[in-house]
Parts: sequence; C-alpha cells; structure tokens
Amino acid sequence: MRKLVFALAILAAVSARAEQKNVQLLTNLSDWQLGGVMDNFTASLGVHCDFCHVRNEQTKAWDFPNDAKQEKKTAREMIHLVLDVNENNFHGHTVVGCYTCHLGKESPSLAVALPVPPIPPSKPEGAEEAEHKTYPAAKDVVAKYVTAIGGEEAAKKLATSPMTAKATRIGGNGQSMPLEVYRSGGSVMTRVTPAEGPAMAQMFGPEGGWMTSRQGVHTLSAADAALGMTATRAYEPFSGSLSDKARVVDKQTIDGHETWVVGAAINEHTRQRLYFDATTGLVLRRVITMDSPVGRIPTQTDFEDYRDVAGVKVPFTVRVATVNGGQSGTRKYTSIELGGTIDPTMFEAPK
Ligand code: HEC
Ligand code: HEC
Repeated sequence: MRKLVFALAILAAVSARAEQKNVQLLTNLSDWQLGGVMDNFTASLGVHCDFCHVRNEQTKAWDFPNDAKQEKKTAREMIHLVLDVNENNFHGHTVVGCYTCHLGKESPSLAVALPVPPIPPSKPEGAEEAEHKTYPAAKDVVAKYVTAIGGEEAAKKLATSPMTAKATRIGGNGQSMPLEVYRSGGSVMTRVTPAEGPAMAQMFGPEGGWMTSRQGVHTLSAADAALGMTATRAYEPFSGSLSDKARVVDKQTIDGHETWVVGAAINEHTRQRLYFDATTGLVLRRVITMDSPVGRIPTQTDFEDYRDVAGVKVPFTVRVATVNGGQSGTRKYTSIELGGTIDPTMFEAPK
C-alpha cells in the first residue's frame, strides 16, 4: 500500500506544482519527468530514495533538495558523466544510462567475473543478414494480429469503443484490490478500493483530470493528465496501428512461445517493441522505452488469457512492469464490456 500511495503522492506533488529547488543538471524536466528519472535511478542501482536523499530531522518529511549525502553528490557527478558521454560519443542521443554500467547494483563490476562461461562460436560472415532476410514483413505480422483478434472492425472497436471493465489489481507488493475502469471519448477513469478504504479514483482526459486520495480531490492540468494517460495506456492492448517504418527486428521465445519482435518509433524519443506470437498472431508483450537525459526508461506489458468480448479478442490478464514498483501491477479482468454508453458524470470530479 505504501508504494501505491507513494506513486499517487508523486502525482499529487505534480498537481501541486512542487518547485524544484536544487536541481543543477537535470533542468528543463517537469516534476513528473524528474520523478521518472529518480525511479530509474533506484532501479538502475538497486537502491531506495534514501540511498541519496535525507529526511528533515524535525518534520521527518523528505528533504529532496538537501545535498547532505555523499551518494547524492556522487550521483550528480555521474549525471555529468552520462550527459558528457552521450553528447560527445553518441551525437547527443540517449544511449548510455546509469543502468549501462550499474546493472541494478550500487557498485558496478570493475573486472570480469571468473570463471568465464563458455562463449558460443562466432557466426559465419553474413549469417545474421541472411537470417534477417527470412523475417516476415511487419505489416504482415500486424495483419495476422488484426485477423486473430477478429478483423478490421474488431480492431477499430478495440481502439474507439467505450469500455467498462472490472478487475482485480495485484500490486507490485502482492496486495490485491478491486479495480474498475471506464473509458470513453479519450477519457479514462480508474477506481481502486483498498480493503482499508476509502476508494481512490483517478481520471485523465484531453482537457485535464483529477484524482482522489485520503487528502481529498486534486485537479490535474491537461499536461499532467496527458502524463497520467501515458501511464494508464500501458495497460491497454495493442489496437493494431503502427508506423510505416515498423520492422521485424528479432525472433524471440517468451514462455515457450516463438515470437516476432516488431520495432517501431512512436516519436523521436519514444520507441516500442511488440512481440507477436508466431503461431496465434496475438501480441504477448509490448516494451516501450522513453529517453531521459540519463538513460532510457522502459515499461513492459505482458498480455495473456485472450478471450472473446463482443467479437473482439481481448487479453484478460495484463501485467505491467515499470521502474517504479508502485506503478507496476497485474490486472486480472473479471468482466470487460465494449460498446454501449457510459454515464458522462463518471468523468466529473467528485464534490
Ligand atoms: C542515486 C542517487 C539518487 C537516488 C537513488 C534518488 N535520487 Fe533524487 N536526486 C538525486 C540527485 C543527484 C538530484 C539532483 C539532480 C540535479 O542536480 O540535477 C536529485 C533530485 C531530486 C529531486 C529534486 C529536489 C530539488 O532540488 O527540488 C527530487 C524531488 C528527488 N530527487 C526525488 C527522488 C525520489 C522520490 C527518489 C526515489 C524514488 C529519488 N529521488 C532517488 C539523486 C538520487
Ligand atoms: C561508465 C559507467 C558508469 C555509468 C554510466 C554510471 N556509473 Fe555510477 N559508478 C560507476 C563506477 C565504476 C562506480 C564505482 C566506483 C568505485 O567503485 O569507486 C560508480 C559509483 C556510483 C555511485 C557510488 C556508489 C556507492 O556505493 O557509494 C553512485 C551513487 C552512482 N555511481 C550513481 C550513478 C548514477 C545515478 C548514474 C546515472 C546518472 C551512474 N552512476 C552512471 C560507473 C558508472
């Protein structure tokens, strides 16, 4: 529960427009983006926020701007290093990040671990290109997916129809609670009801949003709601549209299923990879990576248990893994309805 509250607390901080007081290098990031970078630090080094940050001794509240800890100062030097490496060696693109060296550890390995495991023989010259030539075209892989979920009409319904769903949400910490989802006309409202109550809801729409917590109702600006929408979109199944530049880039096995991996840019700083089951055509996984100045930040969604809903095959188990444990979780749907109408007052902030 603590983690979920923390994830919400970050959002609440965003809506309150918390001022950044002592940010020297990671400038020009919104609070939300900075929060994502911080989550990526903890995941990259395998530590918690308190590895670098201290609390105020009197109030016990976090004092994030405080530079008391040596680790925070070292981290700032490391930020410098990463910005320089990307600028000087990779044309300013985000290639190197904290994870590149740290691999989830406080201290990166300074030497090869012995004994060295057997190294497979080198592939003959040109073998890789020859194999790539046997890959199918991305548009054929996507077409097979669209057929598998019920055809063009089904894909359109999935992308645009109002949706009402009920699920059990199992959090990163294993705690489960009932969840409802209402989606219509570009707005999404989700509500969870923890056992200890009260229900907590969040709504993200094109013009803004709101969220409720124990502290009351917070209003979100359009920009913050768009960021919230990005986070909830991780739970949405693939609706069948990809850029023309999409390519099959790899062949991989997930839980014994052979998959075609399709890579596509979403925009200049965001990429996605979709893993299509080579046999059924269904999407088993999607990985989205967003560039930050100090590394790429991934979000992975796994789709399982596809069932028929009004002529559309929809995954009933959706697992999302992010660098923030509190935002990670599994949705096991008990019911999904597509079509129909949703009472518009659903999307209005509670009084
Ligand atoms: C590896 C060290 C490290 C970890 C772990 C870390 N931070 Fe930071 N954090 C920093 C550094 C360094 C800065 C200052 C960046 C700069 O100067 O550009 C910072 C800045 C911040 C700020 C802005 C403070 C201000 O000056 O107003 C916030 C808020 C923050 N961190 C929150 C978090 C949270 C929440 C976590 C845990 C999820 C976290 N940090 C984990 C190193 C860390
Ligand atoms: C080029 C490789 C590399 C990259 C990239 C890198 N680090 Fe490091 N980092 C190191 C090495 C090596 C050490 C350990 C130095 C030693 O053992 O004395 C270290 C140590 C640290 C420490 C001190 C750990 C401790 O136990 O006190 C912190 C904090 C840290 N790095 C944070 C970061 C952050 C945050 C990033 C991303 C902004 C980052 N590092 C990126 C190589 C890297």
